[in-house]
Amino acid sequence: MRDIISTVESLLNEHEAIRGHMKQVRESVNNLESLPQHILAAKDKRENLKQAIGYLEDGLRTHHRHEDAVMPQLVGELIMQAIRLEHADQLVMFKKISPALNDNNIDHFLSQLVPLKTNIENLCQATSLHSLREDGILHFLRKVP
Ligand SMILES: [Fe+2]
Repeated sequence: MRDIISTVESLLNEHEAIRGHMKQVRESVNNLESLPQHILAAKDKRENLKQAIGYLEDGLRTHHRHEDAVMPQLVGELIMQAIRLEHADQLVMFKKISPALNDNNIDHFLSQLVPLKTNIENLCQATSLHSLREDGILHFLRKVP
């Protein structure tokens, strides 16, 4: 039982860390402006955003691997299947974001800012909701004597 509790606690802590990464992503994306006078600053700000997205993606991939390894012992196969589907959905959302983030032409990058912001917000929303659903399951498991 102690093993289950420590696994549950570690997953809950990882969810908090992922929320911290998302906070950084949201702050970095909100700093970006598309006005022409902001182009010079935009390069630096985009680097900050890329870094924040990179930390989020790395953190999520590591976290998904951890959940893949330990959650099957905690939840039924059907729930695990649903969790894996949502993990895959999250990783697909990074693929939508990456072309704009890596666009060498900063003007062209700035012209894609509105859809980029929407895609990033969708990723953060989906990831937040997913982790909250998992938190619900983990909180139940914490109650098991
Ligand atoms: Fe998950």
